[in-house]
Amino acid sequence: MTIKEAKIRVDALRKVINEHNRHYYVESSPAISDFEFDLLMQELQGIEKKFPSLADAASPTQRVGSDLSEGFAQVEHRYPMLSLGNTYSEEELREFDARIAKAFDEAYEYVCELKFDGASISLIYADGVLTRAVTRGDGVQGDDVTVNVRTVRSIPLQLHGDNFPKEFEVRGEILLPHSSFESMNREREKQGKTLFANPRNAASGTLKMFDSKEVARRGLDNFVYYMPGSDLPFASHYESLQAARAWGFKVSEHTQKCSDIGAVVDFIRHWETARKKLSYDTDGVVVKVNSFAQQRALGFTSKTPRWAIAYKFKAEQAVTTLLSVDYQVGRTGAITPVANLEPVKLAGTIVKRASLHNADQIALLDIRVGDMVYVEKGGEIIPKIVGVDASNHSENLLPLQYITACPECGTPLVRIDGEAKHFCPNESGCPPQIVGRIIHFASRKAMNIEGLGDETVELLYKNGLVKNAANLYDLHKAQIARLERMGDKSAENILQGLENSKKAPFSRVLFALGIRYVGETTAKKLAEAFGSLSALQNATFEQLLEVDEIGEQIAKSALAFFWEEKNQLLLNKLREVGLCFVAEKQQRFSSELEGLTFVITGTLSRPRDEFKQMVELHGGKVTSAISSSTSYLLAGEKAGSKMQKAEKLLVKVINESQFLELIAKYSDV
Ligand code: IVH
Repeated sequence: MTIKEAKIRVDALRKVINEHNRHYYVESSPAISDFEFDLLMQELQGIEKKFPSLADAASPTQRVGSDLSEGFAQVEHRYPMLSLGNTYSEEELREFDARIAKAFDEAYEYVCELKFDGASISLIYADGVLTRAVTRGDGVQGDDVTVNVRTVRSIPLQLHGDNFPKEFEVRGEILLPHSSFESMNREREKQGKTLFANPRNAASGTLKMFDSKEVARRGLDNFVYYMPGSDLPFASHYESLQAARAWGFKVSEHTQKCSDIGAVVDFIRHWETARKKLSYDTDGVVVKVNSFAQQRALGFTSKTPRWAIAYKFKAEQAVTTLLSVDYQVGRTGAITPVANLEPVKLAGTIVKRASLHNADQIALLDIRVGDMVYVEKGGEIIPKIVGVDASNHSENLLPLQYITACPECGTPLVRIDGEAKHFCPNESGCPPQIVGRIIHFASRKAMNIEGLGDETVELLYKNGLVKNAANLYDLHKAQIARLERMGDKSAENILQGLENSKKAPFSRVLFALGIRYVGETTAKKLAEAFGSLSALQNATFEQLLEVDEIGEQIAKSALAFFWEEKNQLLLNKLREVGLCFVAEKQQRFSSELEGLTFVITGTLSRPRDEFKQMVELHGGKVTSAISSSTSYLLAGEKAGSKMQKAEKLLVKVINESQFLELIAKYSDV
């Protein structure tokens, strides 16, 4: 075979294989047998191997995935990935319709779609080829998971036809169908791995795996439902979906145009029950204004489009028997009672365990072992017990005795005023707390230490190699390699992961420390406000409170953390190993507002966050409370008590246009 002949054959094979993939995965009607399909695939693989120059990332052979483990690059979304306004009530849905009706003199129609409960994905195509797939992330930037998404067979690598825009984005949901989810969890159970709580988690976890071969095996699926951008060659959302379907995407057949809100309600009522027969999870219906022109006229708030709303279904419930109660100890020492249940099917999956919240909840519901209990899957990961079937409540059952000592270390539990949960106070000696803190430190959103999963941390701890996060950086290859299930390669990976983690920005390091109430967002705010660990360590209670969204609880918790000697030692050690304790300089447009502190109040023409951003981009600071050190109160309409306070403290009050004048020199920003 000459290269020329090979090229012709490869092109032909790719085309038929893509076509068969579409029949199989998008249309669910295979045109040939699996065996015949495999033969075609093998032939293509054979030729590609012989003629490496014909390799192509869009070839169907690339769907099997590679063994390469890559960290995911963070990519900024061209259009931010916003969420949708939510409602559970018909009344609010009708209010949404009334707002739309008010905006137009002309007719409008809706498109109703199922709300798929998976992980959202942004897909970029250039010249008809999938070039990039990015997770939602924080909405502004996400993980580039292209290698994994290439393995999802219902996502075309190469589009059909030729009437697609040269470059465009399409959004959809990556799902794990119930059958794939069940078999994956069965396999995990056999291997003694933690089970995924629901298909949504499993889908997003799978998307972020470092082994795309494993991703390919798991059977992810996809529906697309939205094309962002203002230069699309369509007049309506419905048309854009039809086009997407023609180009080879999987668009749900349960998508319907509705000419009025009554038809929307009918669609919702139908799917409220019909959805239970679907082979994947849905958690509501998304209602979108169809016309693109009308969508543009309605626009967006800072968080959601004004032209769409999600009607959420109420969580499904199941009834089953409570077999026993376990008590889990979290990294902060908080105790969570967990119910072991007679397995029951709920929203497409089998539930065996559910959260019982806390002692009060148990007492309130008077839950007893042997009771029939209601289990519900809410937005949370773990299903919860929401009630007891009183008609079955036998008096012979004994009330539940809540534990008084830590099930892991035996220390008497304490209950702090105002807290719903019991705590094990033995922070430095209780194993799940020690391990939990290190797991949190290494986790993806914190230091993101590759190779250092939950089980590995546990293994390191059990073998006496680590007792705190700083110990991780003292590990040697030989110490790790000789542990059970480890080897040279995994040891090298972990050390490399640790090395890479030294580049993590200050805000992540701060989050990784696991200071109580300091989540990801708070850590970012603190890092931005203080700029360095030493500044933060020296901050007073009042200074902490001045930071936007930092309240007394967080401020107290931060002070307590930095005050403790063992934490100071830990921080010194982490500084020595080279972690980053200084914030990166924020992007700035000017220093016009340098040294000035603003408080924003009242109704402005745009969301407050936008003004806050403007202040910060010009070097100023925004705080939530007025004090004598506030430079300006930016007051919109209906400004309340802050106005009086400003007058009392002689703080200058300005309106929106006066504010804009302050940065007028840079008004293009
Ligand atoms: S439209 C600008 N349509 O729901 C609006 N979203 O809370 C873009 N979702 O993050 C979203 N099914 O992951 C849209 N048919 C559907 C959807 C859908 C599920 C998810 C999506 C989004 C979230 C919004």
